[in-house]
Amino acid sequence: MNEQTPTVTMEKIVSLSRRRGFVFPSSEIYGGLSGCWDYGPLGIELKRNVKQAWWSAMVQERDDMVGIETSILMHPKVWQASGHLKSFTDPLVECKSCNQRFRADHLTENKCPACGGELTAERQFNLMFKTFIGPVEDGSNTIYLRPETAQGMFVNFDNVLQTTRRKLPFGIAQQGKSFRNEITTGNFIFRSREFEQMEMEYFVKPGTDEKWFEYWLNERINWYVKHGIKREHLSVLEHEKAKLAHYAKRVCDITFLYPMGWEEIEGVASRTDFDLKQHANASGKVLDYYDEETKEHYVPYVIEPAVGVDRSLLAFMCDAYTEEPDKDETRIVMRFHPSLAPVKVAILPLSKKENLSNFARDIYKNLRTTLATQYDDTQSIGRRYRRQDEIGTPYCVTVDFQSLEDNRVTVRERDLMLQIRIPIAELKRTIEAKMAGEDFLKLPPGGEVVQAKPKEA
Ligand code: GAP
Repeated sequence: MNEQTPTVTMEKIVSLSRRRGFVFPSSEIYGGLSGCWDYGPLGIELKRNVKQAWWSAMVQERDDMVGIETSILMHPKVWQASGHLKSFTDPLVECKSCNQRFRADHLTENKCPACGGELTAERQFNLMFKTFIGPVEDGSNTIYLRPETAQGMFVNFDNVLQTTRRKLPFGIAQQGKSFRNEITTGNFIFRSREFEQMEMEYFVKPGTDEKWFEYWLNERINWYVKHGIKREHLSVLEHEKAKLAHYAKRVCDITFLYPMGWEEIEGVASRTDFDLKQHANASGKVLDYYDEETKEHYVPYVIEPAVGVDRSLLAFMCDAYTEEPDKDETRIVMRFHPSLAPVKVAILPLSKKENLSNFARDIYKNLRTTLATQYDDTQSIGRRYRRQDEIGTPYCVTVDFQSLEDNRVTVRERDLMLQIRIPIAELKRTIEAKMAGEDFLKLPPGGEVVQAKPKEA
């Protein structure tokens, strides 16, 4: 394992999230609800961008993938067949003095971490939330909130196969809420009771599973790096064979250097034909594949990359966070990749005078149809830049009185604070080109460089 120290503390991420409106405790005015979180105005934009980046890479840009969305409530037999009713448990101990409950495998000593009291013997605690379907609250109507989205893909395997006429290998992807009644939550949004997952089941011919496992492990690592995670903050942890989940032949965690240390961000699992066979046996339906080349029927093997939206969002926030000296203060910059930044452009008029406001608002209205744009005319330009830096806006556009004459505006980029002045007619196209990776100082026709070197803030 890579020995490094985390680059940011959780306190700083939580404080910025609170201050700028990324994440709030759920039901905060009632004291919060343990293990549940609400996303604020910037948080929801960031979350949607993370989900879109995953969907683009996993579904839109591929020939071998389709997406689905299945319901959170599923037939109770699903969880019996999948093994969750029996095995989706964590070891629980209870303090005999203060009655607090803990996950036994998270304790370092055999005494209560809260009061030092004696602990009960370990028992297995099932993490699935129970509820009732329909108006009668009795045992025969018990159902569960899904603890993973994956089973939705398995029970729809044949529906997708029949309606899309796919050939192996192909995948089914899904994003959606999952629920686990975790014994202990914590580390902000890292481990919660209600969270969102992005999972993909990749169906392959048995015997090719090892090759595809390596392929997906690499693909997934590359996805994080492409969207701003530092490669040296990612690592791979192979699960010991003896401790594998009940369905798995091989599992690797992709781990990230979170503020509390190296922890799982994503799991890549080789699930063999376990799930399809279990559901075929339990439902009596045939869930296999006819291979036209070899003229045989077989049950495909499955490779599954599974990640939590909230957990990956937290990682993107941690690696984006930077502090720089700024005269007597500190400039906090969220260096989000432009594809993830909640706001892409800020329009900052240098005066509130009506003629300039109207002019700047027209630019704003034009940009916001395709780019998440903010309009801000309060306080000094320096303070407005700092505010945008702190929420990770890659481009700030200042509109001044000269703009009324020459139809040009100044664009400032977030990371080195370089500036160019360009025609308004070129603005949208230029920002889109820079977001796609064009050198910031490359000018459109009629443009000039204003600040070519990193600026003292
Ligand atoms: N279908 C396989 C599966 O669900 P998992 O390792 O239990 O595997 C996959 O979960 C991912 O879901 C994890 O890597 C993590 O990112 C996220 N996740 C799991 N439990 C979570 C929780 N309580 N809070 C937030 N994210 C969670």
